[in-house]
Amino acid sequence: MSYNDALDRIKQNIDIVDYIGKKVTLKRAGANYKGLCPFHGEKTPSFVVSPEKQIFTCFGCGESGDILKFTMRSENLDYREAMEKLAAEAGVELSSGGRKANEKKEELYEVSRQAARHFYKSLRNGDNPGIRYVISRGITPETAVRFGIGYAADSWNDMRDFLEKMEVSSNAAYDAGLLQKNEKGYYDKFRNRVIFPIFNTRDKIIGFGGRAIEKDAMPKYLNSPETLIFKKKDNLYGLNLAKSAIREQNLAIVVEGYMDVVSLAQAGVENVVASLGTALTSEQARLLKRYTDTVVLCYDTDNAGRAATLRGIDILLEAGLKVKVLQVTGGKDPDEFIKQQGKAAFDELLDSAVSFMQYKIDVAREKSDISTTEGAIRFLEEISGELKKIKSPAEQAAYVKQVSTLTGIPESSIEREIQGAKPSRGRTIYSEASGQQDGENARMEAEAVIDEKKRPTVRTLIRLMVSSASYIPIIKGTDELSSYFQGSGYEGILSAIFDIYSPDGEIDETALYDRLDDRDVGLLKEIMQNILPSGDDRKTLFDCVARIKEENLTEKRANIIKILEVMDEEKDIEENNRLLAELMDINSAISQLKARKEQLNE
Ligand code: CTP
Ligand code: MN
Repeated sequence: MSYNDALDRIKQNIDIVDYIGKKVTLKRAGANYKGLCPFHGEKTPSFVVSPEKQIFTCFGCGESGDILKFTMRSENLDYREAMEKLAAEAGVELSSGGRKANEKKEELYEVSRQAARHFYKSLRNGDNPGIRYVISRGITPETAVRFGIGYAADSWNDMRDFLEKMEVSSNAAYDAGLLQKNEKGYYDKFRNRVIFPIFNTRDKIIGFGGRAIEKDAMPKYLNSPETLIFKKKDNLYGLNLAKSAIREQNLAIVVEGYMDVVSLAQAGVENVVASLGTALTSEQARLLKRYTDTVVLCYDTDNAGRAATLRGIDILLEAGLKVKVLQVTGGKDPDEFIKQQGKAAFDELLDSAVSFMQYKIDVAREKSDISTTEGAIRFLEEISGELKKIKSPAEQAAYVKQVSTLTGIPESSIEREIQGAKPSRGRTIYSEASGQQDGENARMEAEAVIDEKKRPTVRTLIRLMVSSASYIPIIKGTDELSSYFQGSGYEGILSAIFDIYSPDGEIDETALYDRLDDRDVGLLKEIMQNILPSGDDRKTLFDCVARIKEENLTEKRANIIKILEVMDEEKDIEENNRLLAELMDINSAISQLKARKEQLNE
């Protein structure tokens, strides 16, 4: 059953009020149920569950959604995990048909295994174009055995007839991607090609790649279609053979093609996989993460290879992997390189693989002519978003220096540009020297991203407290402020300030910095470099508080309006009136705030 169908079924089987009621004490309020919101701290209930619509909404924090969203948010699960949990609870089969699907999968594995054996035998059946081609590519018999390389005969029915003889139904062979069909019936998909079987990490054959033998046969490589057992995005070619070497060396080399994997392995470089087409997926990155924490991308140096490298870098970083880039010199691919230059030369190249940041700088530099002022500025604009994401101050400084030398732009200007820049693509924040976070940290880092809307206000408040400790108890004691700080991205700094405060003195800045991690040290330094908005600190504080109150109220108002829009007012007059009254209160509070602000500014 598809996930969508399963979700419908789950909703039929589990009532959202019962479900949430196990975690949150809910009381009936008109047609709905109310309780204390589990997603933000509150003392009066603003969390509403609607049995009729089977949704929840909180007009305190704005969180709302269905049972799936509730499960994801309340238990910190991703979509899949939450679906699995709910499905189990509701007694709904998730995978396409459960046991039946597994049986079908087993059948397709078996068909693929039979087919691979047939390809394998055909390659070794006397002289044939397949074996001639394999030899011409320098593949040794041992390597051919190791990778299970085979040959698809130059025929429209060789595989079909073989499978028929083995009593495999043509329909199953079609589902395994081995046969195609037209009005006249089934025929072989792979014809006159050298066959590279694709294994999953459990050594099951799940698909095939077929290299054309004739020079201009199209396409050069023909791959199995997506089937029940072959999902390109979840697999890497060669991983079954490479995984132990990858684990031992704590390093995976990712290349583009089948032949690159085969030739490198034959030369003794065994920790190599290919990404089955150029674009690396996040699933493949996570798969690699099981065996290693460092990946070297080794794609072709053409435009497609470069684009794939840039995308691959971000995907690998997001999975929490360390990333380097190896560029094979002389316009060759790794297969050609290792055949001509040998393993020692490749090992040397590997040693000189550059950090992903160096690679990004090099690529940006090629795009702009940095000998012109205009080009240098464009280059700087492009790279500063990347530099901003570097967490380690030392590492960042080293790259700033390099960029300064390259462009002739002073380091101080580059630093200012970085401060103003938005972190580019992806929300990953890089950490220490060429290393990144592990997956868990990466996720936490992503969550620690600064809330741009709250940024100026929170920064001003921090600046106020550090320069004059007497503001700390006031700010710390104001509920509205502390809840506003949640999710601002400045929590680390704020709690350090609150911790360190003692009523009898000013803040010891050194002690404060000592309590912060690298990221927060950087942030605080940045904050302390700025000047405060106006001379009068008391007025500044008041302005900030007023702004926050106004923001909170505006958000609350938006939430109430949202609820009123979806509410059936006939059915729930009482609740409807209550919300309308609250809306009016909020409106008048907002006008009062505005009026006071104007008074003060006069
Ligand atoms: N590829 C593919 N379909 C194609 C072309 C390429 O799936 N029509 C994939 C294959 O995995 C191939 C890889 O992209 O191995 C790299 O393609 P390319 O650079 O064109 O070929 P090479 O690997 O250099 O192949 P060969 O050395 O056999 O010419
Ligand atoms: Mn090649």
